[in-house]
Amino acid sequence: NEDLKINQEGHLLFGGADTVALAKQYGTPLYVMNENRIRKICNMYKQSIEKCYHGNGLPLFASKAFCCKEICRIMNDEGMGLDVVSGGELYTAMQAGFPPERIQFHGNNKTTEEMKYALTCGVGHFVVDNLTELHTLDNLAGCMHGHANILLRIKPGIDAHTHKFIRTGQIDSKFGFALETGEAMAAVKEALQAKNVTLTGLHCHIGSQIFEIQPFLLAAKVMLTFIRDIKAETGAELQELNLGGGFGIKYTEQDQPVPYDQYMEQVSKTVHSCCSEYNLALPKIYIEPGRSIVGESGLTLYTIGAVKSIPNTRTYVSVDGGMTDNPRYILYQSTYEAIVANKAEKPRDYTVTIAGRCCESGDLIQEHTPIQKCAPGDILAVLSTGAYNYSMASNYNRVPRPAVVFVKDGSPRVAVRRESYADLVQNDL
Ligand code: LLP
Repeated sequence: NEDLKINQEGHLLFGGADTVALAKQYGTPLYVMNENRIRKICNMYKQSIEKCYHGNGLPLFASKAFCCKEICRIMNDEGMGLDVVSGGELYTAMQAGFPPERIQFHGNNKTTEEMKYALTCGVGHFVVDNLTELHTLDNLAGCMHGHANILLRIKPGIDAHTHKFIRTGQIDSKFGFALETGEAMAAVKEALQAKNVTLTGLHCHIGSQIFEIQPFLLAAKVMLTFIRDIKAETGAELQELNLGGGFGIKYTEQDQPVPYDQYMEQVSKTVHSCCSEYNLALPKIYIEPGRSIVGESGLTLYTIGAVKSIPNTRTYVSVDGGMTDNPRYILYQSTYEAIVANKAEKPRDYTVTIAGRCCESGDLIQEHTPIQKCAPGDILAVLSTGAYNYSMASNYNRVPRPAVVFVKDGSPRVAVRRESYADLVQNDL
């Protein structure tokens, strides 16, 4: 990771900032986000889409990966779109002054209240998941004398998470309309008839943390084939296609993600060749990456407390956070690498289990992982925690959520204040 460096004192630098100094200044646990890297990747996606689709496309940031007002401001500044999946994410974006026309509203069970709110905001697109939603949205838009552009979420039947990705007849997913059963075609016909919504296109998302290109190519092909079939059956040629997110990132040395611009180029070749083969106009292409924008752009700093060696088993190094700020190990056994930030120049020859502070045996960050020989009071940096950590944090055990600091050109600023005990009881009556 080119954004990680070690200074003369042996301190870990991230985005040019001394992480040990950050821990001292802002306290721990602390989420640190590298703004320069976030902007660089947005820029890469923007340029790549521009180049691949002659300007007719837009990358959206999947805000579920990391959502606060500051990231919405940065995304706006970078000219990105935004994928929101709840009224809360939408509210955050609106509070940050994000232009609603560049927002797509996702979710498999949007409430009536959320749909009303999104109509009032004027979001650019609803990504409609099911017929109940289609009918409710059509009615609501009518009652409010409004109108909504929609994409239909389609299950392309590609499971990219299996060892060798497979094309199944119908994957067992709660999201979207199935192609094989005719459900998707029936939904398209209904959507085309609906009075207060305009069907502008389709959406699919095949999964997350994917390292192969092939499933993405196949998904693009399946979707364009469906657009061709829709045209043949109804005469309507859909003009927009959202191909979702899911590009894998590097959590450890073993992870070897494909450079994102390569994904983009390969996918665009499939899109172009399908369009010419099927005699379709090139649709406007959206993608919605989350993890690949913020994942490696974040790390978490902790203060090491007790170190407990259990003979012939393992050594627990306890930190002042854990599953409350990073639930990904307890949920998915996710891999992470850690570095003792104030001893970063030393060899990582101490194999430990990093334990959180919650009353839960499974509250671990990583097991049997190499770090530098450490002692209570040292600062531990866990890398690649920018995605799905802050956004999935909880107050279990009434642990306050950490602050989020953004670093730009080496200078830090607080983007989310640390929760206080008073915040914890603020809604208690
Ligand atoms: N679009 C849709 C419709 C999605 O469902 C997702 C992720 C994305 C885009 C963004 O995917 P990404 O580029 O971030 O892979 N909590 C899990 C990840 C859940 C992903 C859910 N959907 C984790 O911590 O790994």
